[in-house]
Amino acid sequence: MGGVAIVTGGTRGIGEAIATALNDAGHKVAANYGGNDEAAKAFTERTGIPNYKFDVSDFDACQKGVRQIEHDLGPITILVNNAGITRDGTLHKMDYEKWNQVIQTNLSSCFNMSRAVIEGMRERKFGRIISIGSINGQAGQYGQVNYAAAKSGIHGFTKALAKEGAAQGITVNAIAPGYIATDMVLAVPEKVLQKIVATIPVGRLGEASEIARGVLFLASGDASFITGSTIDINGGQHMY
Ligand code: CAA
Repeated sequence: MGGVAIVTGGTRGIGEAIATALNDAGHKVAANYGGNDEAAKAFTERTGIPNYKFDVSDFDACQKGVRQIEHDLGPITILVNNAGITRDGTLHKMDYEKWNQVIQTNLSSCFNMSRAVIEGMRERKFGRIISIGSINGQAGQYGQVNYAAAKSGIHGFTKALAKEGAAQGITVNAIAPGYIATDMVLAVPEKVLQKIVATIPVGRLGEASEIARGVLFLASGDASFITGSTIDINGGQHMY
């Protein structure tokens, strides 16, 4: 093993589990984050994984951030587009700001980060790009037109880029998590969350480590013939 991985939103929640799993598997890992300095500091103290603060919704910041990581750790072999936010609300109450923030942070970030690593991956004829979609991008969700549109966009982005990367040794895949026990999901109002959990056949929220194991697999040599695919990890909540 021993590549260099970037995990966006990698200091908390699902991103933290992914960064830690890749690190444990022998990769050099850079954990990007956007705002929570305290959590990032604690994460690095806990794991020894360096953190890099830049805004993934900002194209130029991603170029600069990726160049810095390459300078520090070496050429990027794995990109995990994990960073994401929610600004939930029904459409009739949603302002443009809430729409735009989620589209920029959750979807445009995949363009910004992939664009910053793709030329190096093409030159080296190897790369793994793994993006975190969502069950809510596949099935829709009450109060989430912004989030569902962005996550659904990730699945289209993945398939298109997979076709471009296939002949260049670059695989491009997505994982669609269901409801995972992270701060994001636990922020859903209790009575709503109870209704949601009742629709999960496995009968519980998922664990961040259960998503990380999927990423680890897609990043590994075992997944060399898998590209353009989405792995659903959702406790059976959505099947199609
Ligand atoms: N499933 C079932 N019922 C739902 C629901 C859902 N997902 N979302 C809302 N409802 C219900 C509520 O329980 C409520 O029903 P009752 O009137 O019978 O009590 C009704 O719809 C109206 O909801 P609210 O009273 O909450 O309406 P509001 O305008 O105050 O709030 C809202 C709207 C902000 C969208 C709020 O309902 C909410 O936060 N819903 C959760 C949205 C959600 O699932 N977000 C996922 C975040 S985690 C994530 O996105 C990670 C991932 O990838 C899976």
